[in-house]
Amino acid sequence: MSGDKKPNAVRVIRGGPVLVSGPVDIELPDGARVQSDRFMVAVCACGRSKNYPLCDTSHRKKRRRAT
Ligand code: FES
Repeated sequence: MSGDKKPNAVRVIRGGPVLVSGPVDIELPDGARVQSDRFMVAVCACGRSKNYPLCDTSHRKKRRRAT
């Protein structure tokens, strides 16, 4: 690393979101952009969030097994 700039902090939660220090500008595969100016942003890594790409804690809900 060069200069005095602190690296961005990213924390991966097993089975949950990726926590990224904000503000962030997230680009989705279709080119759409989502911004958040929160101090810490939880980015959904499970794909179940109704507020994708931001985590809405849906990853905590148990999945039903197919019978
Ligand atoms: S990681 Fe939390 S809803 Fe996907």
